[in-house]
Amino acid sequence: MNVFFRLTAVSLVSLLPLHASAGEVEVLHWWTSGGEKRAVDTLQQLIEKQGHTWKDFAVAGGGGEAAMTVLKTRAVSGNPPSAAQIKGPDIQEWGELGLLGNLDEVADEQGWDRLLPPQVVDVMKYQDNYVAVPVNVHRVNWLWINPEVFAKAGATPPNTLDELFAAADKLREAGYIAIAHGGQPWQDATVFESLALSILGPQEYHKAFVDLDSKVLSGPGMVQAFSALAKLRGYIDADAAGRDWNGATGLLIDGKAGMQIMGDWAKSEWTAAGKVAGKDYQCVPFPGTQGDFTFNIDSLAMFLLSKGENRRAQEDLARTVMGSEFQEIFNKNKGSIPVRLDQDMSSFDACAQRSMADFREAAGNDGLQPSLAHGMAASSYVQGAVFDVVTNFFNDPKADPERAARQLAAAIAAVQ
Ligand code: GAL
Repeated sequence: MNVFFRLTAVSLVSLLPLHASAGEVEVLHWWTSGGEKRAVDTLQQLIEKQGHTWKDFAVAGGGGEAAMTVLKTRAVSGNPPSAAQIKGPDIQEWGELGLLGNLDEVADEQGWDRLLPPQVVDVMKYQDNYVAVPVNVHRVNWLWINPEVFAKAGATPPNTLDELFAAADKLREAGYIAIAHGGQPWQDATVFESLALSILGPQEYHKAFVDLDSKVLSGPGMVQAFSALAKLRGYIDADAAGRDWNGATGLLIDGKAGMQIMGDWAKSEWTAAGKVAGKDYQCVPFPGTQGDFTFNIDSLAMFLLSKGENRRAQEDLARTVMGSEFQEIFNKNKGSIPVRLDQDMSSFDACAQRSMADFREAAGNDGLQPSLAHGMAASSYVQGAVFDVVTNFFNDPKADPERAARQLAAAIAAVQ
């Protein structure tokens, strides 16, 4: 063998994967903020440790609308990724298209039926087979507070909507942005659903956004929720339009704003900035929703693959995601809580502990409700209809709350 040949052979061997069945996973997600990227990097590392190749398919855009558009294009051209962040009832829609693979073997081996809350199991299965693996549980109905800014403004953390507006007045008078917001439809809807939950209560919230009951959708509670949204608009700064959610969180971290109404992925930004929950920032349930929990469960749905080694890599991805090691490191960075019921929470921070306690309590009564803004409550068509009505209302200072509630019912009826 000449020298050249030997060298080539050696370098080829070093290029071979660590074990014979190593494959590639291409994973579509929209976790691109500084904090969320740190979280997803932990998954990449755990996958690469097993010898597989990680192909990152990140599509920027909070709430995932852009990512879903790109995914549809890839799927239509017959080239979907191995895994994609697809959530809630959407998983059923993809299942019906016959594009999703089957994770039952991994699920049996790890005992997913036993480890997961039954409500989560139902969402991850299509026709009784697991087609997706749950990543975490995010809570949407949170209010984030910068306590230093609050102290300087003489404001106190609010427990009711009246107290929320009273605190906002104090913050504004002291020269701060009272409520940090990013003007994007999904962010408007995130704020709106928390207001609706606060005003309607969990049972009526359910009738509106899960049962799509037109009486509740156009009823007096919903009118009040739109009125509260209009009032809240007055506490948002003029540059909010188009701002990303993490930009809004940054305003709190930098001490320019006092509050943000956002799900607990916002915590990923505080964590990445080295800030400590309960000390540098506070999380309180959105005023008037104490004990309730609007959930947003991230999950990776798996597409049917032809290549054996990529199929095995995909199974390893699912196995890793449900593993305790991943559940701990990822969720600490992401701001969410583990989806496994047996996870040890002792090393998690105060917000995560509170979230887990409230999740368990709310699961025992009507308090546990799916987030409409994050695709947990209804189809993507209904979600889109709500986004349109809420954002149009939010952007029009003259819009009438009664008319908006009627439009909400009509827009939802039109897409069913
Ligand atoms: C949600 C998603 C979260 C977070 C958020 C902001 O829809 O479930 O994980 O990424 O969007 O983009």
